[in-house]
Amino acid sequence: MPGVVIVGAQWGDEGKGKITDLLAERATMIVRFQGGNNAGHTIVREGKEYKFHLIPSGILHSQKTCVIGNGVVVDPRVLLGEIDNLKRAGISVANLRISANAHLIMPYHVLLDQAGETKLGKLSIGTTRRGIGPCYADKALRLGIRVQDLLDEKILRTKIRAALEPKQQALRELGVQRRKQRKEAGEDAKAAPEGSTAGGPDPRLDLHAMVEDHINFGHRLEPHIADTAKLCWDALDDDETVIFEGAQATLLDLDHGTYPFVTSSNPIAGAATVGAGVGPTDITEVWGIAKAYATRVGAGPFPTELEDETGERMVERGHEFGTTTGRRRRCGWMDLVALRYAVRLNRMDSLAITKLDVLSGLGPLRVAVRYRSKEGAVLDSFPYHQSILHSATPEYEELPGFEEEIGDCREEADLPQAARDYLAYISDFVKVPIRLVGVGPDREQTIRIDA
Ligand code: GDP
Ligand code: IMO
Ligand code: MG
Repeated sequence: MPGVVIVGAQWGDEGKGKITDLLAERATMIVRFQGGNNAGHTIVREGKEYKFHLIPSGILHSQKTCVIGNGVVVDPRVLLGEIDNLKRAGISVANLRISANAHLIMPYHVLLDQAGETKLGKLSIGTTRRGIGPCYADKALRLGIRVQDLLDEKILRTKIRAALEPKQQALRELGVQRRKQRKEAGEDAKAAPEGSTAGGPDPRLDLHAMVEDHINFGHRLEPHIADTAKLCWDALDDDETVIFEGAQATLLDLDHGTYPFVTSSNPIAGAATVGAGVGPTDITEVWGIAKAYATRVGAGPFPTELEDETGERMVERGHEFGTTTGRRRRCGWMDLVALRYAVRLNRMDSLAITKLDVLSGLGPLRVAVRYRSKEGAVLDSFPYHQSILHSATPEYEELPGFEEEIGDCREEADLPQAARDYLAYISDFVKVPIRLVGVGPDREQTIRIDA
């Protein structure tokens, strides 16, 4: 009954997609358990790049079952787009299963997320604007629409009406705000592009059209809708390996991340149980995925951020632009205080360190080993108080860098000594073995150390 969780150890985009695709070799089922199409997971196989937002990163293994669990929020339009793209690329989605209990991101969730981000005076989180927060909020308010509702027109209509009712005011304000913005920009409000709120009521909010669209989505998705918790139980009870693939990451966790600069779900390993419907003792292994440095997209504290030439070189060498929104990722040194926090929160037993190749030629490497508060106190642990974290400065250990390109290394022994020492330092500091090392985006560009 091995249940293996793959979790992001930093602020996302650590390369979870690539590692999931690799570890999927030994699994029969791969399950996404939280998040939605805010995620962007990239897999490179034989030079061909695949990008997934909702579909589990095991999908390239056509014999394995890929599950979108109950904890995921699903934008059906996006999901169907991904299914179509895969089919066009000749990849089978016959084994894709979607939990009937997963919640749907509706058009009004996307509009409200976009509005929340642009509202003047409101703290901007820098969300992906995909409707994630408003959808999870409706789930908690018990106003959510679930995948199973797509199969019953009457229920769907009643639920959408109920969900829209308390949002009328906000959606009206949004329309007014947009019209004002366009007027100020000297644009003709009536000549608004299709789907915009500028020229009148937003066509995306029309109840009848929304119901009709979603019934059509339901027809297309029906063959994939299932009781996915039971699928997991059956596999685990048959002693098959099930991989629970996390999206986002530990420091974006709604409870344990840098709130409010977080996502609206729980990406940590413990959440795999709730988001897939299995028990805590079904989880037998936890893999943390961390980059050899650190990145973050969107707003929020990032103690080791580099706003200098070295940071710029990390962006260039690592192609640090978001898979989902194309935004430039903020870059900085590896933060071992934060990593040790992530290790404990998730009780990781193995680490995969990705993008080690990006560090070659950067000169001496730095790793944060403690923080100092603005009052001068030494902080060995990740501070629980946000005000302290926001003003904390990292203190670094400097380690020798390496100049050699390492993209062709396939064994640990092929790596330059300085790169091996760097990995050993990280592993010793957080007391977790590093079992996979990424030396390039392609799945072959991986060093397995007892994995
Ligand atoms: P995820 O969200 O955690 O799945 O990560 P993303 O796919 O958003 O971002 C990781 C990026 O780094 C992708 O473009 C990957 O192709 C790439 N990548 C993954 N591992 C490595 C690696 O070891 N080296 C390099 N250079 N790129 C990598
Ligand atoms: P993957 O799975 C990196 C960030 C957003 C924003 C915050 C909240 O590819 O690692 P949201 O749209 O979730 O309400 O945005 O979370 N964020 C991510 N950053 N990788 C991701 O996913 C992310 N998903 C959300 O940039 O700061
Ligand atoms: Mg990503």
